Amino acid sequence: MIALACDHGGFKLKEEMKAHLESRGILFRDFGCFSEDACDYAVIAKKVAVSVAAGEYEKGLLFCGTGIGMSIAANKVRGVRAACCSDHFSAKYTRLHNDANILCLGGRVVGPGLACELVDTFLDTAFEGGRHQHRIDLITQIETEQIEGGHSK
Ligand code: RB5
Repeated sequence: MIALACDHGGFKLKEEMKAHLESRGILFRDFGCFSEDACDYAVIAKKVAVSVAAGEYEKGLLFCGTGIGMSIAANKVRGVRAACCSDHFSAKYTRLHNDANILCLGGRVVGPGLACELVDTFLDTAFEGGRHQHRIDLITQIETEQIEGGHSK
């Protein structure tokens, strides 16, 4: 099950990606927004980010104008590795190497055809593990240090 959400800048692309997911038989929950009325991406990103970090959803998809605001906000949530991508190579390698769990796309950056390919690549590519797991562990360590206070050099 996939969690997805958008602000007004990503609304149209989110609707297009919902149709694409449906055509592939992939289940999702839509956390909004539900129109092109202006809203605040940080509020919406948090809903998906918290749910994905809690393990309630396998992965998340977030859409705003650029994808950047959503990714910045989502990455504030512990356990989230959100990647803003607009090319195929990045969408593939953020799964292989970063074990990214949320993909952020810009509705004003990528068209629906490319977005379908980016979503498919993101959802269908497995984490490579191995030496990359150690690097993910180092990211998790930063999060732990932030909570406990103090940083190792
Ligand atoms: C909204 O105009 C726009 O700022 C937002 O969708 C997003 O691009 C922010 O990063």
